[in-house]
Amino acid sequence: MEQQQARELIRAALKARMFAYTPYSHFKVGAALLAKNGQVFTGCNIENAGYTPTNCAERTALFKAVSEGVTEFSAIAIVGSLEGKTNTLVTSPCGVCRQALFEFTGPDLTVILAKSETDYMETTLGELLPYGFGPKNLEINPE
Ligand code: THU
Repeated sequence: MEQQQARELIRAALKARMFAYTPYSHFKVGAALLAKNGQVFTGCNIENAGYTPTNCAERTALFKAVSEGVTEFSAIAIVGSLEGKTNTLVTSPCGVCRQALFEFTGPDLTVILAKSETDYMETTLGELLPYGFGPKNLEINPE
C-alpha cells in the first residue's frame, strides 16, 4: 500500500488508541480499518472487570463497520503499547481477531503493524492466518 495512505491509516489508529479502556492490562491498542468505499472505521480495546468480555481494538473497528452496513475492507492498521511506553514489538492481531476479520476479507486484507507513523511493517491476513476457515468452507461446491 502507498506510504501516504499507510501513514494516514496509522494516524487514525493512534488517535483511536487514546480512547482505549484498559484499567487492567494498561496495554492500549488502536486500529483503523479501511473500507473499500474509502471510509475508515476506528476502534480501541475495551476491557472488563470480568476479563473475558474484553474486546480488542480490531474487533471494535470491524463491528462498528459491519453494524453500519459496511462489509468490504482493503486494509487495517494496528498500534499497541503499554500506557506511556513505546514498544519494541509490533502488536499483531490475536487469533480471535484474525478469524473475525477473515470472515469478511479472506486472505487479501493488508495488515499494517505499526510502532509509529514511520516505523511499520506490512503483511496480509493470509500470512497471519494461513488456510483460514471462512464462509466458503461451509459451501458444498465452493468456486
Ligand atoms: N489487544 C488488542 O486490542 N488487540 C491486539 O491485537 C492484541 C491485544 C488488547 C486486549 C487487551 O485489552 C490488551 O490488549 C492486552 O491483551
